[in-house]
Amino acid sequence: MAVKPDVDAYIAEMGRTVTDYLSTLFANPGRPARLFESMNYSLLGAGKRLRPILCIAAAETFGVGVDKVLPAAAALELVHCYSLIHDDLPIIDNDDLRRGRPTNHKVYGDATALLAGDALLTYAFEQLSQPLGISADKQLQMIHTLAHAAGAYGMVGGQQADILAEHTDGDLELLQFIHVHKTAKLIQASVVIGSLFANASSQELDAVAKYGLSVGLAFQIVDDWLDVAGSEAEIGKPVGSDERLQKLTYPRLVGLEKTRELAESTMQEGVEALTSAGIQAPLLEAIGEYVVRRTR
Ligand code: IPE
Ligand code: IPE
Ligand code: MG
Ligand code: MG
Ligand code: MG
Repeated sequence: MAVKPDVDAYIAEMGRTVTDYLSTLFANPGRPARLFESMNYSLLGAGKRLRPILCIAAAETFGVGVDKVLPAAAALELVHCYSLIHDDLPIIDNDDLRRGRPTNHKVYGDATALLAGDALLTYAFEQLSQPLGISADKQLQMIHTLAHAAGAYGMVGGQQADILAEHTDGDLELLQFIHVHKTAKLIQASVVIGSLFANASSQELDAVAKYGLSVGLAFQIVDDWLDVAGSEAEIGKPVGSDERLQKLTYPRLVGLEKTRELAESTMQEGVEALTSAGIQAPLLEAIGEYVVRRTR
């Protein structure tokens, strides 16, 4: 039997590696300095770095080391950080706290926050399209994967649906659509991009994509749970934001207990997709479990 990896140590170590890398991206203040300060403020806050870590773990699953993948993994965090800045804006979730600090617009104002988000998103593609030492075909596939997951067919579409569903009696089908699009698609793209670095077969890529979507959905289900039952000090963002905005969430539709059950079973479905494809992925399995038991 494979030895169970110490996933907490892995996440902590990879998180530091990713943050160190991210801190080099805009280390030299560009002009205007305020834009770069605002970008760094959000990029270098105390995030979990889950998306880049998943990208790295997927690559490692197929035998590719972290150094090779790090620049692409960073692109995922760039898109994620942009999405957080815009998500917190007064015209979207109107939140004041993120990663244990005032949100970007609270520090830099709405206009700079909007632009810092735009700049991080754009830079993600500058980052992912630089020479990565892989075939142009593979790299184009990665760029396409990220663009699809981030835009109208992915995160942006999910955010629009999320806003439209505020104060409505949406059902589970709509809720799943929202969560899959606003959150799971980018997490799916993270593991797919990591796997593209290796010579994963199309059957393996399909299994990894299923894992990513399920773990991504489980991740957002737990995010909903934490918004009700978590601690503000731990999650570093306001508890009760969803209630205040009358968001369509799992706790609202099925209650807290069933929310946890659904997170667990959704994550398990993802892990089973790997197992059925015969992929030995103790690391991805352990990260799946972490996603469900996390308290931040
Ligand atoms: C928060 O994501 C936004 C969601 C998609 C739920 P994370 O919980 O990964 O936030 P950070 O990166 O750790 O701050
Ligand atoms: C946001 O979902 C997902 C994004 C695409 C940013 P939430 O609005 O629930 O994320 P948090 O709770 O503010 O991090
Ligand atoms: Mg939101
Ligand atoms: Mg929010
Ligand atoms: Mg939330």
